[in-house]
Amino acid sequence: MEVVIVADREAAGALVADIVVSHVRPGAVLGLATGSSPLPAYRDLIRRRSEGSLSLAECRAFLLDEYVGLPRTHPESYHSVIRREFTDEAGLDRVDGPDGEAQDIPAEAARYEAAIAAAGGVDVQLLGIGTDGHLGFNEPGSSLASRTRVKTLTRQTRADNARFFDSADDVPRHVITQGLGTILDARHLVLIATGEGKAAAVTSAVEGPVSAFCPASILQLHPRATVVVDEAAAASLQ
Ligand code: F6R
Repeated sequence: MEVVIVADREAAGALVADIVVSHVRPGAVLGLATGSSPLPAYRDLIRRRSEGSLSLAECRAFLLDEYVGLPRTHPESYHSVIRREFTDEAGLDRVDGPDGEAQDIPAEAARYEAAIAAAGGVDVQLLGIGTDGHLGFNEPGSSLASRTRVKTLTRQTRADNARFFDSADDVPRHVITQGLGTILDARHLVLIATGEGKAAAVTSAVEGPVSAFCPASILQLHPRATVVVDEAAAASLQ
């Protein structure tokens, strides 16, 4: 695992954008995270596209996760969020994600796993980390070998994500998320963490034991994992 400490959120975004660009080729498969952490990288990639130095038109993308029961058209569904924050302006049309409205969730999870495999697997997977150490929405206690499935969000994650909704009660309780085993199949994992609120989780993930209690610690098992942190998120590292 390579840990890269940069000055701030914008520098983290620029570095992650460079990493994404290094994987871009016709047919490249990008794994996209939602949430705040990747936004500077997404803005940087959009800028490069508008300046004419980057095209993602021949790439495709898969999302990590989706809320269960939130209509796809809801502004906070991850389908809506990724289009609004990144893919529409980045000219990336082929985006798949778990269908949170599926009636048969195990069948949807199987479809999603098969779609990723049929695309040839993920070349570069962008990841954020939850304050409770979650990766995707694999909350503490998730099997290290898990595949795409339904999960229940922890109280902590629902509180953290309340900022995107009118109230904490509006945050869905369930999600469909790629499993830790699914994430480990990607060929390059890139974790982005910025701000002091992530320092404890980053330290557990990078320096703690590999354990289901800190799902992000699975990065230690991957042959090509890059952790991009700002000074604040790196504050507790040895
Ligand atoms: C989002 C996801 C989550 C977030 C994590 C951090 O698709 O899978 O694991 O990456 O909750 O969220 P932010 O970046 O908003 O702090």
